Parts: sequence; structure tokens; C-alpha cells
Amino acid sequence: MSQVGEILDSMDYGPAPEAANFANEWLDKHGRKFGHYLGGKWVPAESHFASICPSTGKELAQIGQGSSAQVDEAVKAAREGLKAWTKLGPAGRSRVLYALARQIQKHSRLFAVLESLDNGKPIRETRDIDIPLVARHFYYHAGWARLIETEFPEYENVGVCGQIIPWNFPLLMLSWKIAPALAAGNAVILKPAEFTSLSALLFAEICHQVGVPAGVVNIITGDGETGKAMVAHEGIDKIAFTGSTEVGRILRRVTAGTGKKLSLELGGKSPFIVFEDADVDSAIEGIVDAIWFNQGQVCCAGSRLLVQESIADRFYKKLRRRMESLRVGDPLDKAVDIGAIVDATQLARITELVGTGVKEGAKCFQPKCKFPEGGWFYPPTLLTDVEPSSTVAQVEIFGPVLVAMTFRTPAEAVALANNTVYGLASSVWTQNLDVAHDIAAQIKAGTVWVNCTNQFDANAGFGGYRESGFGRESGREGMFEYLRWRAPYLPAGNLAEIKESPSNGALDRTHKLFIGGKQARPDGGYSISLPVASGGVVEVSRGNRKDIRNAVEAAATAAPAWGAQTGYLRSQILYFLAENMEANRAALETALTDRGGSGDEVTKAIDAALLFAGWADKHEGTVHPVPLRAVTYTRPEVLGVVGVVCEDAQPLLGFVSSVAANLAMGNAVVVIPSRHNPLAAMEMMRVIEASDIPSGVLNIVTGQIDELVPDLAGHAGVDALWCFADAEICEQVEQMSVSNLKQTWCLHGHSLDWTKAPSGEILRRATQLKNIWVPYGA
Ligand code: NAI
Repeated sequence: MSQVGEILDSMDYGPAPEAANFANEWLDKHGRKFGHYLGGKWVPAESHFASICPSTGKELAQIGQGSSAQVDEAVKAAREGLKAWTKLGPAGRSRVLYALARQIQKHSRLFAVLESLDNGKPIRETRDIDIPLVARHFYYHAGWARLIETEFPEYENVGVCGQIIPWNFPLLMLSWKIAPALAAGNAVILKPAEFTSLSALLFAEICHQVGVPAGVVNIITGDGETGKAMVAHEGIDKIAFTGSTEVGRILRRVTAGTGKKLSLELGGKSPFIVFEDADVDSAIEGIVDAIWFNQGQVCCAGSRLLVQESIADRFYKKLRRRMESLRVGDPLDKAVDIGAIVDATQLARITELVGTGVKEGAKCFQPKCKFPEGGWFYPPTLLTDVEPSSTVAQVEIFGPVLVAMTFRTPAEAVALANNTVYGLASSVWTQNLDVAHDIAAQIKAGTVWVNCTNQFDANAGFGGYRESGFGRESGREGMFEYLRWRAPYLPAGNLAEIKESPSNGALDRTHKLFIGGKQARPDGGYSISLPVASGGVVEVSRGNRKDIRNAVEAAATAAPAWGAQTGYLRSQILYFLAENMEANRAALETALTDRGGSGDEVTKAIDAALLFAGWADKHEGTVHPVPLRAVTYTRPEVLGVVGVVCEDAQPLLGFVSSVAANLAMGNAVVVIPSRHNPLAAMEMMRVIEASDIPSGVLNIVTGQIDELVPDLAGHAGVDALWCFADAEICEQVEQMSVSNLKQTWCLHGHSLDWTKAPSGEILRRATQLKNIWVPYGA
């Protein structure tokens, strides 16, 4: 009786442990020692390391450390697997993905427990969120496997995909990588994170059971060294990576110039914005899901709370009270909210960063928590009085730590929200739909959750803006990451060589640069002489680093207003551009023929301006049917400032097509014209002056292309870069793009046949997708 009395007094939870016996039996069955799954067989590892249970500190199993030789073996296996997978065809591949989905559901309990043991996350989350989402991913992509040929007719599979994933959602990240890759007809080599390899190994076993053809799915375990060997391997056609921005940068550098396709899903510092008219209790529960879900080890965790000043004190008070009721403890306890931190190093990093925050002036609140012994735990933490520029407001902590700041006006909320190098996700809380949509449009992030947070579905794209990486996962948009565009290329041809000849007596003429709506002299005052067929030479300005900087500044200043214009207005401006080109036809033709080109290109270029004028108000998003009462829609958004390095084969058509596509989508542009014939672009300068393109929206810098390109590619004010120059220049572009991880589109020396290129891929490259979730319910 006294016991019942005590329970009623304390109202404490009793233990509710999930049994771990199935998972332990599975580990025992393998002797708690694993090799790699390559070519449909288990291959013994050359060396091992321990996988530790974060909640107890005890060893769970010995995991293989994949060597370079084994990566090579995996690539060979995958090449073989690819043949079998291709032979199976869309319907056969779809059946296999469906079988995987079914088996994941059937083994869901084992997966959930194993994942909790290995990662430290609460069983409530693995059971109710991770594993159901994994199954959903395979079901969903079983559909794309079937539809691939009819829905993506202009694309083909990439080949062998190397996939490197982190430890925070081991099986979920595996499914985000493997399901679309297989659906698109590729073979994969996946490397799980060294802390959490077990569920991937169990998945390999499931692949074996359902008869995935040998070599189609290969799982190699190991740490960053194994990852490095994968990234460097010539036989891998694509690298898909989720993890830290630091490693993401390394991968961009290593893959530069190799032609390997790359997608990066990196860190975040996502804002969670609460307006004074928000449903406060819902917002508080939202925060619990935003930052204490998975111990805050979530790339899109709502780690920066921005709360309207008028309600801040009341809100913090409620939040602290809610934090006191959060239960930290054994991840296998079904009534635990916060489990263990994945590893001692991660725990040390969180502890250190919170210490730095306090040293920099933040007030720290942590409820009293009793932790189980032996594991790595950290209490839910709230840091208030944080300056927007302080370390904890800028750096990804990747732990259960919420950093709070206040704002007064919607404009201030947006400024604070965007005050980060990242752009993965965000949450907006308000009962006012006008405010919600207005703010959602202004936040620079790949996902905006309105009055909800951390919602995911296989049918809604996910991925970052800015230094959160590029590429998307899930949905139709995610499929493009595993497909290669069958680009219509022109046959390689030699460029006409124009020999210097005597001047035809025309007045000496030096073309200037075009920056901020005006013709500008180059900073260095130098020029380049180009012999022309009509006689003599034409001087073209030799721009330098300062000219590039001025052009990017002009573009960045003009970009917000241009991006906010309606598609209708942009289309009218492009139609007028086409009209002015027609009026200047003769001069454009001369500019082409003077450097050995054909005047026919003018008509094609005018057609290209008309084409993208037509697209300006038609490239639209979609509404996704997700399994939630929500309108979840995609907005193709402007990239901002786009750099374009033009090709030589079609100096006018290439210039006009890439510029018009970008202008149509609302980007401001800095162009480096064709190395061989910049004259056509110079002539366009005069056409542009006579049209209504606002100052700074289109800037042209001529000069030595290999001097200019590194400056443009490395400039942090450039958001994306299209490079149609030769392969060496493309490599430079990819190398230098690590500065701000801008997305690049390089054709590695091929010349696009713009007249045959369908617009879809071009417009996809000129925009970035934002997914906005707006749940509803009366
Ligand atoms: P990480 O980026 O080092 O590891 C992610 C994956 O990359 C692992 O599979 C790892 O073995 C592999 N890897 C490491 N170095 C590599 C290299 N040079 N080449 C190829 N593969 C390599 O992340 P880590 O060390 O586990 O965590 C460090 C920090 O990264 C965390 O504190 C957190 O801030 C952030 N992080 C972000 C994640 C996200 O989803 N955005 C996920 C995991 C970590």
C-alpha cells in the first residue's frame, strides 16, 4: 500500500523496457563480428573496430574496417551487379524494392531495437518514426522503379553510386540513399558511419533474403578512411554524402574535375520562429520535436529559437517547465524522451560548445536529470541572452541544445533566420496564414515547416540552400540525383582560326565591360587584341579580380528586387530583349562571322530569348500527396547570383540561352563570354542597354578566362555557377566552388546543342526547390 501511495505522491514513471533479446540473438548469431557484404557474399574484414552501445558504454560487436582493396572489390561487384539489375527492367526492379519494403516492415521490431542499441536513440523514435519512414521510402521508390522510363525519358541511370552516411539516422539515411538509387537503375556501395553500422548489416542480410541480385547492393563498413577510398575510386560514378560540412567540402575538392556526380546533404542551424499570435502550447511541443528529437543530433534540428519579444518571457517560462518533464534515460525504455549521445567525442563537443556559449554571455538552463550509469548522456539545454553573432548561434552543436533569441518585427525575424551560412530547414509558428506564407517565402532554406517541424516523407523533397549542400533527397526531385541527363551535345569541332590581317580602316574600337547597367573600363586598363575576319583586330577589355568583384556586387545588389519581380514582368523584359536583338541582327551577325562563326546563330539566339521569355511565368511547383493532413508544396525559387562561363562553339546562342534561362527564373547574372569569340556578347551589351533589364541584373566581364574563372568560382557572393568552357576550366570551377559550396553545372568540355536541349534540365539548374509544409485541420 505504501508503495502505491508513494507512486501516487511522486507520479513517477515505472520502467517500461523494450526487450533486446531478438537483437542480442541476432548479434550472437553473427558471433558479434562482421565482415562486409560485397557481391552478394559476406567477405571477411582485414581488421576490426568496436561498435559501442552509447547508453551503456559496452561493446556490441566488432565491425570491419574496409580497406582500399575491399573498396575496389566492392566496385567490381557493383559493376557486375549493375548488369543484372539493368537486365531485370523496371517491373523486376520494382518488385525487388517492394519486397525490401515488406521485409523491413516484417523485421521492424528487430531493426528498431538494434538501432536504439547502436545509436542511443529512444525506442519510441526508432519504432514510430525511423523504421516506418524507411519502409515508406522503399514502397514509394518501388513506384519510381516502375515509372522510371516513362517519367524520366530524357535521363539514364548514373551507374555505380558510392553512398556515405552519418550516424544520426543510420537506417533512415540508408533508405534515403539506397531506395532512389536502385529505383533509378543503379548499383550501390554504401558505407554506414563507423559508430552505427549494425542496421546496415542487417539490411544487407534482408537484401540477400529477398534475392536482390548479387552486387546490386554492397555494404562496406569502416571509418573516414574507407570513405576516402570510395570517393577517390575511379570506378564510382556518383558520390552521395550526408554528414558534416567540413567533410562535404573535402568531397567537393576531391571529386572536382572527375565528372563524378555529387550530392551533399550537410549541416544546419535551422531557425524555429514563434510569432506572438502562435498557438503557444503547440509551439512548445514543436520545440520538443525540433531540438530534443534524437538528442538534437539532427541536421535539420530547430536549434535556433527566435521568439517575438512581446511573448518571450512567458514563452521561456513555459518552455523551462516543459523541459523539466522531459525524461532522459535508457533508450530502450518506451517512456523515455531523450536517449544517449552517440559517442564520447560528440558528448565532449556538445559540452565544450555550451561552455563557450556561457563564456560568451549566454544564460544556461538545464533541468535536473538522473542519467543511467556508464553511458553518454546530456540534459536538454536552453541558452538565452544569446547574441546573433555568438559561437552557439552560428555553429552546429548537434546536441540537445536550444539557443534562443528574440525579435520585434517580421522583417527582423527573417533577418535573424537568414543570418547563417546554412539553409537546410526552418519552422514558422503563427496562426496568421498571411504571415506564414510571407515568411516561408523569405527564408533561405530548403524546407519550411509551418506550425509543425521535422516532418518527412518519401514524396517531399529535402535538401539544403547555401552551405547546407546541394541536391535533394526524396520525391521526384530526389530522383534526379541518381539520373544523368542525356544531354544533346554538339559533335566536337575545331574552332576557326582567324589570322591577323591588315585593318579595314574602321575606327579603332575597344569593347568595355558591362557592370551595374553601364559600360565600364577594366580596372587594370589592359585589353586583349582579337584578329577579326573583316580585317585588323578588335580590342576586348581584360578584366581582373576587382572587375569580377564589382560585377558580383552589382549582381548581388540587384538580385533581391529582380528575384521578387513577377514572372510576367520578367517575360515581357525578355521578349523585348529578343525584339532588340532582331533590330541589331546585322551587328550580331558580324560579331559572329568576324571570328569565323556563322551568322545563322543569331536567329537561334533570338529563338532562345523567346523560349525562356515563354518559360518565365510557367516553371511551377507541385503539391505533394503526403500521408498527413497538410498542403505540402514545392516552390522553385531563385538561386540569387549565378555565374556563367560561356562556351566557344556557339558564343551567342550559349550566351543568350544561359542568360535568358537565369533571368527568366529571377537570377542576376555575371557572365564571362566565350574565350574564342567574346564579340557577340560585346554586341549584346548594346542590345541590353536598349532593353529594360534593370541595372546590375546582367553583368559581363571579358578577359583571360583562366584568370577570371577562379575569382568568379571562389566568390562567396555567387550562389551557383554554370561552366560550359573546357574541361580544365570546369575542374577549376569545381575546386574553387568549395568557398561557399555553391552548386555548379559543368559540362566538362562538351558543348550543348541548345536548339535540341529540352528546357526541363536547364530550368532545374536555374532554380532551387523549397518544400513548404502547411498542416490543416479545423
Ligand atoms: P562526418 O562528416 O565526419 O561523418 C559522416 C560520414 O562521412 C561517416 O560515414 C564518416 O565515416 C565519413 N567520412 C568522414 N571523413 C571522410 C572523408 N574524408 N571522406 C569520405 N568519408 C568520410 O561526421 P562526424 O564526424 O560523424 O560528426 C561530426 C559533426 O558533423 C557532428 O558534430 C555534426 O555537427 C556534423 N554532422 C552532421 C550530420 C548531418 O546530417 N548534417 C550528420 C553527422 C554529423
